[in-house]
Amino acid sequence: FSLSQMISLHDFEEAAQENLSKKAWAYFSSGATDQITLAMNQSVYQKVFFQPRTMVDVSSVSTKSTMLGHPVDIPIFICPTGMAKLSHPTGEVSFAKAAEAYGIMFMMSTNASSSVSDVVKARTSKPAPPCFFQLYVNRDRSKSEALVKNVTASGKFGAIVVTVDAHVAGKREADEKVKAEVVLESGITGTGTAPDAKGGGIGRAMGGYIDPSFSWADLPWVRSLSHLPLGLKGVQTVEDVIKAVKLGVELIYLSNHGGRALDTAPPALLVLLSLRKHHPWVFDRAEIYIDGGIRRGTDVVKALCLGAKAVGLGRPFLYALSYGLEGVEKAIEVLRDEVETTMQLLGVTSIDQLGPHLLNTKALEPL
Ligand code: FNR
Repeated sequence: FSLSQMISLHDFEEAAQENLSKKAWAYFSSGATDQITLAMNQSVYQKVFFQPRTMVDVSSVSTKSTMLGHPVDIPIFICPTGMAKLSHPTGEVSFAKAAEAYGIMFMMSTNASSSVSDVVKARTSKPAPPCFFQLYVNRDRSKSEALVKNVTASGKFGAIVVTVDAHVAGKREADEKVKAEVVLESGITGTGTAPDAKGGGIGRAMGGYIDPSFSWADLPWVRSLSHLPLGLKGVQTVEDVIKAVKLGVELIYLSNHGGRALDTAPPALLVLLSLRKHHPWVFDRAEIYIDGGIRRGTDVVKALCLGAKAVGLGRPFLYALSYGLEGVEKAIEVLRDEVETTMQLLGVTSIDQLGPHLLNTKALEPL
């Protein structure tokens, strides 16, 4: 498949299955156990219908918005994912460059294959949204302290976002079954993709340093490490969103880790819908981000209508990266065009006009 043939994110997925090694495909595509959540993440968006307004002048449309006060050209972002070099040798550096070129945010993972300094060097002085940094808290807290201080001091990051849904590794069976032929190491933690006695599971093998004792009581500690705004990624219930908002967390990121952690955890869209219906005040107190199963411009716009401030995609960008930087750029273009067309057909010309009045979510009510 040539890059010019890629006209949807599904095309990139199909191509990646051909382009990637067996191991990379197993690691990227797998979900936990029966992969119920993985499948639901995508299918739940099909249960939401638009209520489009017609005869509106949509000859020009703007997708511009902000994330924590930083202007963005489109409120979509590249999710933090481990080991992007399994897709292409340029790894996270291509994510950082493509995000800068298209004015979107890239959230770098603690399990990135590139180092923080590689990503920092990839950025020019072009005005662009900063990267955000995704933190896995290390059992050796002094390592997390040093890492966050380094990230903050670089001046290229706009938030520290702690992942709270993967304190132990989900059981990803496809990933366990395929053992890595090539061993790669994280540019940050030094842990690698080598199989162990239990199997080939990369997430499990790499994440042994993650501290399962990290709790609400540790929030003041993590906040004390940086002046940057703080986020929590992997919040999965209304109750935890409210707790986080009350504790002053600036960014609450609804996610179930792409169906890779707790299987049958709810699609984040259901949590968003519940917040919008029953606790709309939270949207004024914190920025709510969402990811999981977003593959189309229509999915992005639906999440924005329900109050998400920004929408993340994980696997699609890993798949697009199999074509290097140009692949990631093309994927952003495809998505940007779909978002624009969706807005025009919906009868809106700017992001702030999106709202729940443009959706019919009745089919999700029994859920
Ligand atoms: C992830 N995800 C993830 N999340 C995180 O906070 N830190 C990480 O290091 C990783 N690593 C990772 C690796 C791979 C291969 C995948 C697919 C995912 C989860 C990721 O940030 C995001 O929540 C999901 O990928 C979103 O779902 P979709 O877009 O992949 O369906």
